[in-house]
Amino acid sequence: MKGMDSLAYITVKESPSLRGTVQISGAKNAVLPIIAATLLAEGISVIKGVPNLKDVQVMVELLACLGAKAELKGDSLFVDASHITSVEAPHELVNKMRASFLVMGALLSRFQRAKISLPGGCAIGSRPIDLHLKGFEALGATVNIIDEGLQSGYIEAHAKEYLQGGKVYLDFPSVGATENILMAASLTPGVTVIENAAEEPEIVDLANYLNNMGARVRGAGTNTIRIIGVEKLHPIEYTVIPDRIEAGTFMVAAAMTKGDVLVENVITDHIKPVIAKLTEIGCTIEEYDNAVRVIGPEVIKSATIKTMPHPGFPTDLQSLFMALLCIAEGESTVTETVFENRFMNVPELIRMGADIEINGETAIVNGVSKLYGSEVVATDLRAGAALIISGLVAEGATKIRNIYHIDRGYVDIVGKLSKLGANISRVED
Ligand code: UD1
Repeated sequence: MKGMDSLAYITVKESPSLRGTVQISGAKNAVLPIIAATLLAEGISVIKGVPNLKDVQVMVELLACLGAKAELKGDSLFVDASHITSVEAPHELVNKMRASFLVMGALLSRFQRAKISLPGGCAIGSRPIDLHLKGFEALGATVNIIDEGLQSGYIEAHAKEYLQGGKVYLDFPSVGATENILMAASLTPGVTVIENAAEEPEIVDLANYLNNMGARVRGAGTNTIRIIGVEKLHPIEYTVIPDRIEAGTFMVAAAMTKGDVLVENVITDHIKPVIAKLTEIGCTIEEYDNAVRVIGPEVIKSATIKTMPHPGFPTDLQSLFMALLCIAEGESTVTETVFENRFMNVPELIRMGADIEINGETAIVNGVSKLYGSEVVATDLRAGAALIISGLVAEGATKIRNIYHIDRGYVDIVGKLSKLGANISRVED
């Protein structure tokens, strides 16, 4: 999120081993597309288990800007999308959060027209949207990128006459493109097939949401998704899945501090790569129906990590595992294949005493016996969380600035870690 510079910071002091139980919130990356999907139906939709995050607030603001009535009460979001007055998402909001672009598919599907500001590049790489647009074009939309005049920087898409189901092959299984095309196809007559689709649990959650609304989506969770367009969708009440990345964050924190933590409200199937890697580095893991217990090892073993689309190791946990491997015994390698520029955290970890060398898309991490508290800057959401957990095992105090990144994706991380015994506090000014 840009333009949110603030003086707030988090201080973490060397802490005892984390112990106790932590409750995981609803998944940010599931709820954002689901909020966009509420635009597909007239009437009042109710989304439950909504994490109250900055990114969610931006999406709610965007719906309001389109004319929907949206209100978050506790962890329930009520959206009445009966009277949409605009199909235009302005720069101020899209610029705050790239996922705003997810309203394009829903607007196109329901109104055959949408105009959205181009999401800019962001901290973790250039993040193009070519695959989203390729999908809209496959459904018969005309897409124009406006590059002059007052509307410069906007993308406008409309149906030539009408939209019609089509086939689209994604060159990379992009999560956002798969979601946007799913929504665009749901009210579009005919059959749409997405090949090389993303298989993330959040895609399955969106497909379940759409199907409960009356859509006909088959194959979500595999690399081929087939959508038969329907005439109308109806609003529903729905609970989002738990956040597997937040769960992974607390699991790594338990491992790193030699702790013993029960992480509740998780779907263990969604965190298989995390369980596998933590077991490899020496953790004892107990799996329950709705929870996982992580007991950290005395000595953390080195590991090899390579990020991949789901069901591979998630890129969103790469920086967290990098922090863990900084204090492992021996040499580890971390390879990032999904996003460029996702090693921006490395200079901050080095400032804390880590020994890391970057070679292209691979980082070689030589374990050190100790990290040291320092003043560091959160360079993106997950990188910020990685600095917090590094602070838990670093000698002295770690001050983390630019924490607005962390607010985008973690519900009360300071409160949840404190409850587990961490020595952590947040200062607003
Ligand atoms: C989503 C997640 C993000 C996660 C990422 C990968 C949300 C809100 N965010 O982001 O937390 O890290 O999935 O799991 O759900 N690409 C293209 N062209 C496109 C679209 C993407 O080349 O049109 C490339 C990107 O540059 C990147 C790769 O595909 O290298 C993955 O991006 P994508 O899966 O689209 O990520 P997001 O949906 O932006």
